[in-house]
Amino acid sequence: MKKHNFNSGPSILPQEVVQQAAEAIINFNNTGLSILEIGHRTNWFIEVMEEARNLVKELMQLDDTYEVLFLHGGATTQFMQVPMNLLDDNEMAAYCDNGIWGSKAIKEASLFGKIEVVASSKDKNYTYINKNFPIPLSAKYVHLTSNNTVEGTQWHSFPKTTIPLIADMSSDIFSRQLNFKEFSLIYAGAQKNMGAAGVNLLVVKKSILGTIKRSIPIIMDYRKHIDANSLLNTPPVFAVYVAMLTLRWIKKEGGLNEMEKRSKERANLLYNTIDSIPLFKCFIDKEDRSLMNAVFFIENETLLQSFLQECTNNGMIGVKGYRTVGGVRVSMYNALPMESVIAFTDLMKSFAAKNS
Ligand SMILES: Cc1ncc(COP(=O)(O)O)c(C=O)c1O
Repeated sequence: MKKHNFNSGPSILPQEVVQQAAEAIINFNNTGLSILEIGHRTNWFIEVMEEARNLVKELMQLDDTYEVLFLHGGATTQFMQVPMNLLDDNEMAAYCDNGIWGSKAIKEASLFGKIEVVASSKDKNYTYINKNFPIPLSAKYVHLTSNNTVEGTQWHSFPKTTIPLIADMSSDIFSRQLNFKEFSLIYAGAQKNMGAAGVNLLVVKKSILGTIKRSIPIIMDYRKHIDANSLLNTPPVFAVYVAMLTLRWIKKEGGLNEMEKRSKERANLLYNTIDSIPLFKCFIDKEDRSLMNAVFFIENETLLQSFLQECTNNGMIGVKGYRTVGGVRVSMYNALPMESVIAFTDLMKSFAAKNS
């Protein structure tokens, strides 16, 4: 049976990337060696790393005032590495609390300095994104999560501020065209739109670094990684390679404008189907709905379980809602073909017809 992969992460990758990665495990670029066996300081791997870093800059249209790093650890590491590099004990950073990942980032950052929560949608169960809130000029930076993977909301426009803007883009990186120059720092775990688990992308404006007094362990220090061209220690070679292949694929398919067009097509079909069938309920404000992760409910628990079972029976993988949220979550990352959304919405319609 054909599988439709709606996993929230690690998640679907382009078939040709999986194929190329598999070939490289056997014989990397006709070297007679596996990608798993080559040294990270060989020219072979240095070329992979350079291509990956250059593709990031090209896709994001960033100039040399920005640096691109591939770092160990998931996005969770960045929850602490960002404040460790940017926030002194006596300084204040502004954070937006729009979901589980943002609130984890707040908790970690408060170990390093003062945190002011300048926006929170917790009052309504994280079903919307705050708009037009003041950001104190004394803030060292402002942090937000551009797409809330668990709750299904997404920032569709960003605060206009002179304070350096930092975004966790783990679950919508490279899915849309943004003015990336509005951001001073962007980070993302690779395992959704960008490749395999095990590596983080970090894009940083060099001018925001080096402003704190704290001593930073070498491996946590962004400037040390920049000086070493992202080769400070052994990087996750295979994960960087898969990220490079995925970035190549994004470029070949037409870049971020094309990714955005496809995201909108997929999400429009799914949300229109949800809204047209009373059995399914999405509680997210329409203007704030995520194009990547659609979260919705069937209020009758027995029917919900039987819908999830029917999804499993029909090869629809990964649609059970996050453990603390429940309901249904359908993740529609870059590599998801439209035919999977069509198959899923057909199943929604036939299930509703049988059970209404
Ligand atoms: C928006 C966001 N931030 C952070 C994380 C945590 O990422 P990791 O598990 O790579 O640390 C996730 C994981 O799904 C996420 O979706």
